[in-house]
Amino acid sequence: MSTQTIPRGEELVELKLVKYHLVASLIFLGAAMLAGLLMALQLVHWNPLQGWELLSPGRWRMVHTNGVAYGFLANAFLGALYWVVPRLTLHRVYSRALSWFIFWAWQAIVALTVVGLIWGPSWQTASWVQELAQRWNLPMSLGAQGLEWGETPFWIDPVALLGLFLVAVNFVSPVMKTKGPLYVTLWYFLAAFVWTFLTYAMGNLLTEYHLTGTSAGAVGGLFIHDLVGLFVTPLGWGLMYYFVPIILRKPIWSHGLSLVGFWGLAFFYPLSGIHHFLYTPIPMFLQYGSVISTIAVELVVTTVIINFMATVWGQGRMIYTNLPIRWFYTGMVFYFLTCLQCALQVTLTFQKLIHFTDWVVGHAHLVMFGVFTMWLFGIMTYLFPVILGRPWYSRQLAEWHFWLSAAGVFVMSADLILAGVFQGFWWASLQPWDVSITGSQPFWVLRVFAGLAMFGGFLCFVWNLYKTWCEPAPATATAAAPA
Ligand code: HEM
Repeated sequence: MSTQTIPRGEELVELKLVKYHLVASLIFLGAAMLAGLLMALQLVHWNPLQGWELLSPGRWRMVHTNGVAYGFLANAFLGALYWVVPRLTLHRVYSRALSWFIFWAWQAIVALTVVGLIWGPSWQTASWVQELAQRWNLPMSLGAQGLEWGETPFWIDPVALLGLFLVAVNFVSPVMKTKGPLYVTLWYFLAAFVWTFLTYAMGNLLTEYHLTGTSAGAVGGLFIHDLVGLFVTPLGWGLMYYFVPIILRKPIWSHGLSLVGFWGLAFFYPLSGIHHFLYTPIPMFLQYGSVISTIAVELVVTTVIINFMATVWGQGRMIYTNLPIRWFYTGMVFYFLTCLQCALQVTLTFQKLIHFTDWVVGHAHLVMFGVFTMWLFGIMTYLFPVILGRPWYSRQLAEWHFWLSAAGVFVMSADLILAGVFQGFWWASLQPWDVSITGSQPFWVLRVFAGLAMFGGFLCFVWNLYKTWCEPAPATATAAAPA
């Protein structure tokens, strides 16, 4: 047997980076949730900031979506990656200095994006900006670009791409040094580094500079879909394949099935993007193709869910007693529900009814909050006590965080999905537009309360974290993970 000593995980992990990224993610999540609430209030005519152009909900809607994607999700994923990758590969990330550069550069990118989105149209009217744009043949929009989630101002795009490239270099390096077969988590991570870079470039450069008409529409659909499917999904599932077995202290039920999930996602997911634009002038064979590949993705998802359910089999009580496991498995149930909902909405028959309605917004929150935010909250619930070397200040606050979030997102999604069905029928029966707006009001009022519950849960978490942080460290504080 080799006498070589294997370094323990905690010596390889830069704990401060994990902490900083997770805290940054919470700051952006708070801001993005407030932006969502502002937009929700506007839709029920309760906008508290009426008349302030810079704080108008239209601008803050983009801060909401970009804030959750690039400020919250990206930071939280990076924090988790700095914890997981060195522990799985037994190698440090490429460079400590680069890691800190990425941290500060990423916060600057997200902050500038917010500034660009809010100030954009105001800058454009300045004569010196117009002159500069004409002289250098720049796109006139110094603010938002006209593509959902691709709104990041054009002058941020190359910097963000460089940032994504550096992230890939930093994390791929330890994976390359690993000997022997790679655990499925690392498969997902490697793919995510490549896919995220390509997806961002596709959505922010191709559609802005090279494509027009239906081609731009088709690629735009691919972009919004791939941002969820090839950035958020592989990182999310990759983390689940790491944290669930670690906390349950048993291996994943089937390694073979986990690879079916990975390759199924890799093959079918990128083909599904055009399902966002069914019944548009995009050629029908592409629309049919996207429907079929979406159905294939759902079959693949079922194999992944079966694998995780079989893993927790026999330890079901832990879903009740262990908070991170509860967050993870609730997220998985929401994931399954999202896919079930998707199986309906991807059919052309159903699209006739729900296209452009609130059904889609319900779907978006079910997956982005119900699944990925839940998983990240679970990861933070597990990691913060380990990193800070002390237990949570209050179990009760942690329970409130869970229940307010779970109930809030369930009510918000169910409410909007139902609103979408009503709106679809009002439109299909050619009722005046006002009928659908008036009829939607009760649903939109309920959305405000559901959003307040989610925000309340978030505040419980932040307060709990603050109090935990302020507790005196135990004499024998250790940063070691329990596995
Ligand atoms: C306080 C909680 C939240 C409230 C009140 C809220 C509210 C809203 C509102 C009003 C919209 C615009 C809907 C429209 O244009 O008709 C929206 C869109 C969106 N929100 Fe939230 N939101 C919240 C939390 C979140 C979180 C945490 C995420 C993700 C992690 C998220 C992801 C999204 C996405 C992806 C969209 C775009 C949906 C689409 O265009 O179909 N939201 N949200």
